[in-house]
Amino acid sequence: MTDRLKYKVALVLGAGSVGEGVGNGRAICVLFGREGAQLVGADVNLAAAEETARLVKAEGATMAALAADVTQEADLRRAVDETLARHGRIDILVNNVGGSIPGGPEEIEPDAWRAQFEFNLHYVYQSIRMVAPLMANQGGGAIVNLSSIAGLRHLGNDLAAYAASKAGLQHFSRVAAVRYAPKGVRINTVIPGLMNTPLVAQRLAKSQGGDAAALIAKRNARTPTGKMGDAWDVAWAAVYLASDEAKFVTGAEIVVDGGLSATTRGG
Ligand SMILES: NC(=O)c1ccc[n+]([C@@H]2O[C@H](COP(=O)([O-])OP(=O)(O)OC[C@H]3O[C@@H](n4cnc5c(N)ncnc54)[C@H](O)[C@@H]3O)[C@@H](O)[C@H]2O)c1
Repeated sequence: MTDRLKYKVALVLGAGSVGEGVGNGRAICVLFGREGAQLVGADVNLAAAEETARLVKAEGATMAALAADVTQEADLRRAVDETLARHGRIDILVNNVGGSIPGGPEEIEPDAWRAQFEFNLHYVYQSIRMVAPLMANQGGGAIVNLSSIAGLRHLGNDLAAYAASKAGLQHFSRVAAVRYAPKGVRINTVIPGLMNTPLVAQRLAKSQGGDAAALIAKRNARTPTGKMGDAWDVAWAAVYLASDEAKFVTGAEIVVDGGLSATTRGG
């Protein structure tokens, strides 16, 4: 532990991992724990959050795992209330839940389009609506949202609903950051590029023909560094934004993509 988040209470939404191994939410919890935070991690998959809690506790930090579907307002409220009941405050909120479906406007049916906005944007509005005023009353706090470079540019394959909802998330974060800046509540966004997380083999490979090794090779080749990043790269950015070292940083984004969004490389 290096104590950059010592005495801070962190609520992480999406604290598990979409598959075996370490996704962004799990890596964020582990690093926050190492840095001294006291964690509450919520996930629709309780077993996944419990596995994260096991890893956090194995390093001597504390984490409570909760079951919550962030798209349900009552579940979000329960996660917030339970964090307050346990610790009396929330210093850090991480909105990590999110994910993509493929397709352009013709392929994506209206219900699926709406569901992407629930999954990537609407719950973030809800959680910020619940937590930012609490943080303001406490004298401050830090909110970290997880977006994607798909919200910055077309990535070579159509992800219309994901791209639009993540772009909305990024700008919502800026607007909310301005609103809460005078109250000491900072709101920032981490923008990962192509990351080698369990999501790639578990979900993306299935939706793109089933060959995980080929997809990983393609994603490595597209990244200027020659290799995708991993969940720890994302989590370190979240540690910085959540810590007091970032006390003058709000309404900002940290792009963690090995240079991909600086190029003109397509699919
Ligand atoms: N993995 C990547 O390559 C990548 C790239 C760019 C952006 N991102 C973003 O990073 C974030 C995390 O992605 P990840 O792939 O590392 O996943 P992850 O491994 O961090 O897992 C996310 C967790 O969210 C949980 N979850 C799913 N739906 C939920 C719901 N309705 N309520 C509560 N929990 C729910 C899952 O069970 C899982 O444990 C997402 O916002 C994603 O869009 C990921």
